[in-house]
Amino acid sequence: MDIEKLRRFNSAYVGDFPFLEELSSEWIGKKPLDGLRILHNIPLTRETMLKLEPLYLAGADVTVTHLDLPGLEPKQDCVNLLSDAGASIELDHRKIDGEFDIALDCCAQVPAMENVRITRGYVELTQSGTPIYSALETELPIYSIDLSKLKCLEGMFGTGEACVRAIKQFVTPELKGRKFVLIGYGKVGRGIARYLSKEEVEITVVDINETYLEQAASAGYGTIKDIKRSTGLLEAIRGAFAVIFATGQPGLLQSLYAPSEIGDDVLLINMGADDEFGDDYPPGRIVAGKAPLNFLLDSPTTMFFIDPIFAAHNRCCENILKGDDKGFTALPAELDLPYVDAWSKRYGIDVSDIYYE
Ligand SMILES: NC(=O)c1ccc[n+]([C@@H]2O[C@H](COP(=O)([O-])OP(=O)(O)OC[C@H]3O[C@@H](n4cnc5c(N)ncnc54)[C@H](O)[C@@H]3O)[C@@H](O)[C@H]2O)c1
Repeated sequence: MDIEKLRRFNSAYVGDFPFLEELSSEWIGKKPLDGLRILHNIPLTRETMLKLEPLYLAGADVTVTHLDLPGLEPKQDCVNLLSDAGASIELDHRKIDGEFDIALDCCAQVPAMENVRITRGYVELTQSGTPIYSALETELPIYSIDLSKLKCLEGMFGTGEACVRAIKQFVTPELKGRKFVLIGYGKVGRGIARYLSKEEVEITVVDINETYLEQAASAGYGTIKDIKRSTGLLEAIRGAFAVIFATGQPGLLQSLYAPSEIGDDVLLINMGADDEFGDDYPPGRIVAGKAPLNFLLDSPTTMFFIDPIFAAHNRCCENILKGDDKGFTALPAELDLPYVDAWSKRYGIDVSDIYYE
């Protein structure tokens, strides 16, 4: 692997990423991951290239793949650069085989790879991976980045900003006065509401968590509690310009309403990392063919927001090597609040909203 090619490519990136830069300067001398075989499965984007650099500089033997989701394509310039630099890259999950020390995973796709064996531990990036990893029978450490306050910086700021940017770029720049139904008021849903509300739209929030609904009502949004075939919800969906899904629940819409019950004029948008609609809804019915809408953007999440999360995902490799933990566990404490504070101080951004529970 010609790391210099990757470094030249990354040096053209416009944007700030101090957490990953700090990691690179620390790891380039120490080489803490020397010879470690890492399987890297997250969406392959321009930002991911910045995340890979410190892993290579630390001496890791990285195999790069791309998150397998309907409609989600890897960025071709990144695939080309990695291939050209001689990186080990395989986009087809069925063709990946062998033993790896660590999986840096997203949506718990590595445990489903039949010919892959992980020997030291796993690090999961997002909420959708939680049900699978928390039930995985293994003594190996599994760190969930989602079980942290740090992850709120992505969901409540970065993903929300990117969602609205993507709607304006790919759907319409005219949002004022339009009606949105937002299903899921967790980290991602709150971020979307925060940025959508700046566009003077009407937002109705749907969630199964009553406390979250009270918080949504206090923030000035309409709310619908009973989601199981409630007439109120169907009416709201039928009257909406767009319905945005951010629950992480596969097949949720299909479990509520058949495609024939919702008019074709209502836009259905996915922001979750799963197919929240189900097979009854063909990809063509959903904006962006079911992919999380922000992944149509050149930068699906601005580096400024995702930098500390990417750095923490990488740094968990050191925790795995230390061998202090076993089984499914949250992001180590030293990578959580200290990172949140450092980010908030550096950019002067008030993050008190992330402590909502
Ligand atoms: N597009 C992106 O860039 C991006 C970024 C981060 C996370 N994600 C994905 O977005 C999804 C949501 O992530 P999150 O971090 O907000 O999760 P979260 O757990 O913080 O929030 C999920 C919310 O959905 C609600 N919910 C669950 N089941 C529901 C149901 N049946 N009906 C209504 N509400 C329901 C929960 O109560 C919770 O409030 C996941 O798939 C995650 O992987 C996407």
